[in-house]
Amino acid sequence: DRTRRPVVAGNWKMNGLAASVSELKGIMAGAKAVSGKAELLVCPPATLVASFAKTAKGSTVHIGGQTCYSEASGAFTGEISAEMLADAGATHVIVGHSERRTIFKEKDADVQKKALAARRAGLISIVCVGETKEQREADRATIIVGQQLTGSLPEGAKAANLIVAYEPVWAIGTGLTPTPADIAEMHNFIRERLAARFKAEGEEVRILYGGSVKASNAAELMAVRNVDGALVGGASLKADDFLGIANVY
Ligand code: G3P
Repeated sequence: DRTRRPVVAGNWKMNGLAASVSELKGIMAGAKAVSGKAELLVCPPATLVASFAKTAKGSTVHIGGQTCYSEASGAFTGEISAEMLADAGATHVIVGHSERRTIFKEKDADVQKKALAARRAGLISIVCVGETKEQREADRATIIVGQQLTGSLPEGAKAANLIVAYEPVWAIGTGLTPTPADIAEMHNFIRERLAARFKAEGEEVRILYGGSVKASNAAELMAVRNVDGALVGGASLKADDFLGIANVY
């Protein structure tokens, strides 16, 4: 008897061409079996958001962006606003992914602005947090994640417009995952922080785990308390792999 509906989200990162719509169709075909139990979300590169949203219309698969800019429009060459993603048919947007934080130097304050922009546009934001290997080894994982939560989450967030994703940087694309006990500890910590800040709403916010989730480890990882789904990278690119994860629900 779950109170929070699980979310299985695919982050395609900078992968996918027009022909990849076949994978989306494969996901849609398998989605019916899991739609009663978990929400499915595919976040393709921005070039595919509009066509994917059109293809997925009327299905149980949602489409999201991978980042957005904080302003609605204007002289920001190369950027895409939350309003544009919504206009293209997206319902969600990932913000503050570790690759954005590391490669594109996004700070907590930037991530918070993006989450606010997403809310303004009516999108659900998936705010990512997570420590590096060095930070975990120095026993600073919860301190770092706590700071990221404080700085990145928008004031007055509601469970209907916010999802948090815990992605330890060292687990992304490496095949390594924390132990279920370590995930439980971090997700409980995040839950406490959400509840302290957003009261009852904080109890309802979904907290996803991300980092080397695949069909073979999904059941164990998704069974951890306060893990309300997965944010999947590599294993979200093929319909069968992605559905293998979603099917644990
Ligand atoms: O956002 C999901 C991602 O960072 C995890 O990637 O390939 O380890 O599942 P992967």
